[in-house]
Amino acid sequence: MSMQKILLKLTVNGEAREALVHPMARLLDVVREDFGLTGTKEGCGEGECGACSVILDGSLVNACLVPAIQAQGSTLRTVESLAGADLSPLQEAFLHHGGAQCGFCTPGMLVAGTHLLETHAVQDEAGAREGLAGNLCRCTGYVKIVDALLAAREGRP
Ligand code: FES
Ligand code: FES
Repeated sequence: MSMQKILLKLTVNGEAREALVHPMARLLDVVREDFGLTGTKEGCGEGECGACSVILDGSLVNACLVPAIQAQGSTLRTVESLAGADLSPLQEAFLHHGGAQCGFCTPGMLVAGTHLLETHAVQDEAGAREGLAGNLCRCTGYVKIVDALLAAREGRP
């Protein structure tokens, strides 16, 4: 049985975008393949690793778990939105503190961290660890990532 594709319209990183998507398509695939925004990564594909983190209508979600059609009419932000002419303060802090090693988790960490900062959800180290609990990193032991998040929060290098 073939299912008819659906015209998906949404705002992606401040621009109106559209794509013809299969009703079962995942937001992750539409972001990467239809919109060419490959900064969003696929790790587990099961909602466990956070590599595919994006901000959908102000909420942090795992794009591997969200049906693309659920984003109809929504506002989506991906990691590509974080840097303008300059890196964002959190990106600068990741560089400064060595928060990226292999780099695979980094886009998701940056998106999740940005969401934490924007929602003022982090007060201290424990809060930073808890806030990033949905994002797995095999390399850093989290210390450098947490340091970077706290530095960005406090507006210091
Ligand atoms: S790829 Fe989505 S949570 Fe792992
Ligand atoms: S830097 Fe390698 S998984 Fe986080």
